[in-house]
Amino acid sequence: MTTMESLIGLVNRIQRACTVLGDYGGADGNSFNSLWEALPSVAVVGGQSSGKSSVLESIVGRDFLPRGSGIVTRRPLVLQLHKMESGTQEYAEFLHLPRRKFTDFALVRQEIQDETDRVTGKSKQISPIPIHLSIYSPNVVNLTLIDLPGLTKVAVEGQPESIVQDIEAMVRSYVEKPNSIILAISPANQDIATSDAIKLAREVDPTGDRTFGVLTKLDLMDKGTNALDVLEGRSYPLQHPWVGIVNRSQADINKNVDMIVARRKEREYFATSPDYGHLANKMGSEYLAKLLSKHLESVIRARIPSITSLINKSIEELESEMDHLGRPISLDAGAQLYTILELCRAFERIFKEHLDGGRPGGDR
Ligand code: GDP
Ligand code: NA
Ligand code: MG
Repeated sequence: MTTMESLIGLVNRIQRACTVLGDYGGADGNSFNSLWEALPSVAVVGGQSSGKSSVLESIVGRDFLPRGSGIVTRRPLVLQLHKMESGTQEYAEFLHLPRRKFTDFALVRQEIQDETDRVTGKSKQISPIPIHLSIYSPNVVNLTLIDLPGLTKVAVEGQPESIVQDIEAMVRSYVEKPNSIILAISPANQDIATSDAIKLAREVDPTGDRTFGVLTKLDLMDKGTNALDVLEGRSYPLQHPWVGIVNRSQADINKNVDMIVARRKEREYFATSPDYGHLANKMGSEYLAKLLSKHLESVIRARIPSITSLINKSIEELESEMDHLGRPISLDAGAQLYTILELCRAFERIFKEHLDGGRPGGDR
């Protein structure tokens, strides 16, 4: 792994450890929270059925998200991808089930559903309490992605009228944070002028510095039309290039077309497209994953000084907390404190070695 990969990996693990510690009841406003807040993550936003879950699954390369019509995602899902050495067995782990390793991703989907229902009841209510899921795999890039409920314009039967505003408020609370990278998903077969994702992204990120525009369902556009004005940045210019995507259709899903086949079909779609052929190497979900990971790298690189100083602060805080406690109050909390301390030290060490070894922050 490159140094940058291991730094991002460490950032991921620090975020996770901070979350565990937060759960044990650390006070708000301590440096673990500031640390978590300082670290970037990618929030996926878009209207219902715009293709958010499909894009996430494609980035991960696995089927594991609940799907269906209506509001399927009813709690935020904080998904941390941890890149492992090749040959490592792929597995998933939930924060709320710490000692259970999932290797069957159908069970991951079931657990997300069950855990959603546990908090919201079987009703179609939503809850801002996130579900934390980590995936360890040689086939992912180091990324933290947050799947959010789809923006909607009307409540369906059985839902309170306020659900429209509640969802928007929840999504907004994630994307308005300056460390949030916005993955704004719009379906190509609808007018982008009405895209909820773009509307919200423009409000919270008017310069477009931290917004990645993603256009799904290119295959569903009317014959004789194309999305070149958007994809080439003329209609809705952003700082980052737009990425077009072709996910599995509902028919593909019903036929159990697997992810590897779907990725290959997507590549073929762009390579052979008369409209998009010239953009083929900048389209598709694999390209999107790499683009996001690279962006994350540059954000972390730019923030290394502030992250390092926060880490130092956390180390001090942790050490004094350790001294103070003598023995940790609970074994779990104590173990987490040690974990964060070790991760923070590792981050510092790798970063310092890296600095001593050459150009600050650069190794590519
Ligand atoms: P979400 O509600 O935003 O999470 O959307 P989903 O990912 O669940 O997708 C909603 C529906 O649109 C599913 O039936 C998908 O199969 C379908 N879909 C998503 N993206 C595409 C695409 O690029 N092309 C086609 N043909 N169907 C898609
Ligand atoms: Na959906
Ligand atoms: Mg979804």
